[in-house]
Amino acid sequence: MRGRNPFSLPWSMVTPKHVYLSRRRVLASLLPIPAVAAATQRLEGIRKTGYGQGEKLTPYEAVTGYNNFYEFGTGKEDPARNAKNLRTRPWTVRVEGEVLKPRTFDIDEVLKLAPLEERIYRHRCVEGWSMVVPWIGFPLAELLKKAEPNSNARFVAFESFYDPRQMPQAAWAGIPFPYMEGLRLDEAMHPLTLLVVGLYGEILPNQNGAPLRLIVPWKYGFKGIKSIVRIRLVKNQPPTTWNLANPREYGFYSNVNPQVDHPRWSQAKERRIGELFKRDTLLFNGYGNEVAHLYEGMDLRKYY
Ligand code: MTE
Repeated sequence: MRGRNPFSLPWSMVTPKHVYLSRRRVLASLLPIPAVAAATQRLEGIRKTGYGQGEKLTPYEAVTGYNNFYEFGTGKEDPARNAKNLRTRPWTVRVEGEVLKPRTFDIDEVLKLAPLEERIYRHRCVEGWSMVVPWIGFPLAELLKKAEPNSNARFVAFESFYDPRQMPQAAWAGIPFPYMEGLRLDEAMHPLTLLVVGLYGEILPNQNGAPLRLIVPWKYGFKGIKSIVRIRLVKNQPPTTWNLANPREYGFYSNVNPQVDHPRWSQAKERRIGELFKRDTLLFNGYGNEVAHLYEGMDLRKYY
């Protein structure tokens, strides 16, 4: 399957999540010691928030063991295996473009920029699975405000770290790197839009996009760009990786919408990892009260 782009493989060719998880559980129960040495670092002083109260969390093993991070391979288990040695220190994030104060932030500065919050969000992948994840971070707006966007800024373009020496698997991913994503400025400034530095009380595991990734909970998961090194405020809608790779299938907006199907996958339902029966997918992933006003008067079929 090398050379083909698995994001566009039929879902039937991918190991279903529950099969994969039960295999792992069986394996783990046979091992006398933990399969993965826990080289994790706790994050201190995190404020709990009301988001997602009452939702059942997806187990840590699934959140950190079943990933999309094509720089480290296209299989769901590849990122956990191959991202282990990604160097996340030193790390800087450049904020530039249509701003009054372009700046380069050190990751340790970013960690202290705003109070860290835990937010339990639904995480919906365009492939049809979903999770519930206790992310740790703060609103992206806090970072953007530091650079003072000017009146030309209408969109925000994000870029991931890319180093072919640390990411040899990227050569077979079938998409161009560095990975790029984008938001409209009002989406980027929305209080739900999170700059994430951790999950489950600890610093972000490499496979989840260490040391810094985006989470936009009302959009499909691929908007949540990982391992960010550059944020550029711009005038015009920026190019995005999946839209470039396959514009018919992946739009710029990519709001979760059960009524707008992906050409090959219905989006009406989803499988919550760990559950047997599918659930109905919710418009804007259930965050409509907070975000529907951003799209008033827009044809969501046209702007998919
Ligand atoms: N960011 C980068 N740099 N590279 C990627 O391949 N995959 C995206 C997104 N961010 C991706 C990325 C996709 S398709 C999804 S569904 C989410 O990350 C998955 O996030 P998770 O592995 O933390 O669940």
